[in-house]
Amino acid sequence: MRVGVLTGGGDCPGLNAVVRGIVCARDPDTEIYGFMNGWQGTILGEYIPLTDADVEGIHILGGTILGTSRTNPFKKEADTRQMFDTLERLKIDSLIAIGGDDTLSVAAKMASVHFPVVGVPKTIDNDVSQTDYTFGFHTAVNVGADAIDRLHSTAKSHKRVFYVELMGREAGWIALEAGMAAGAHLIVIPEYPMTLDEILKMVDRRMKHGGYAIVAVAEGFKPVDIDNTLHDDSQIDAFGHIQLGGIANYLTKITKEKLGYDTRAVILGHLLRGGTPTAFDRILGSRYGVQAMELIKKRDYGRMVALKGNEIVSVPIEYAVATKKLVPYEYYKMCSLFFG
Ligand code: F6P
Repeated sequence: MRVGVLTGGGDCPGLNAVVRGIVCARDPDTEIYGFMNGWQGTILGEYIPLTDADVEGIHILGGTILGTSRTNPFKKEADTRQMFDTLERLKIDSLIAIGGDDTLSVAAKMASVHFPVVGVPKTIDNDVSQTDYTFGFHTAVNVGADAIDRLHSTAKSHKRVFYVELMGREAGWIALEAGMAAGAHLIVIPEYPMTLDEILKMVDRRMKHGGYAIVAVAEGFKPVDIDNTLHDDSQIDAFGHIQLGGIANYLTKITKEKLGYDTRAVILGHLLRGGTPTAFDRILGSRYGVQAMELIKKRDYGRMVALKGNEIVSVPIEYAVATKKLVPYEYYKMCSLFFG
């Protein structure tokens, strides 16, 4: 049997642990072909064979040894044809696609035309539904919490307001959990609307009573009452997403203008995604990899591995891509006991 593997979308700590898990769990007569740079490798026919020696020790490395891209093979008909030609020419019996919503939506499309595919959920944003956690999220929260921890002393010394921008497009999981762990004084996320005025009032109150303020803000958040575009909508990827960023700078400018406080923006951005995965993400990635290979062995295709409680289970890929896993209101409400 010959199994293709690819990593698509934004890189994420733990990807290499999944690849290693897949290779280690294969049967002796199974060959693994690692396609390079996500779906692009399936279009261009770029791959590397993966053996035990190739994956030794890679689970501790950040990024992905296979490279990644945001290529959508269903965007152009010629690419779709070329991808299926490649898979046929290389005699790929089945494919494991490791990625977030976009990569998995391609996998779901392939499953719908009966190509044997298995999905593995990946994203630091933790917004893939049908799974309790995606690997990479734990690492991102740790990096974010560490950064906010460090800001307390400098913010306090200078009596400043800090807006810390963390990744999270539609779901504010990273800002919420990193902010909560590190004691941010306010956490604003896309799921729960707030006006500019409400934010400024809370910052002002905190400055008057605590002497400094740290606000964790998810990059996808926008106050409900502003109509200007914060983000760079000239940069659109193959799945139609614009490049986010700008909310911390915007809030910093407004805070200086309206409240007069010494205010700074810290944009954590890709720092959250880079570097070595936490032990939790190494283990979760490894378990996902092994389970993905088990599904391949059972020819249980069209499914995505998932974490439910402490069990690794599987669900139809199409269910996972049907909705995003947003922060539930009850959870946000509980976290908000610690800020505001
Ligand atoms: O993979 C998800 C994500 O990390 C988002 O949180 C973020 O908006 C986006 O990727 C950034 O993508 P890029 O690496 O293309 O700038």
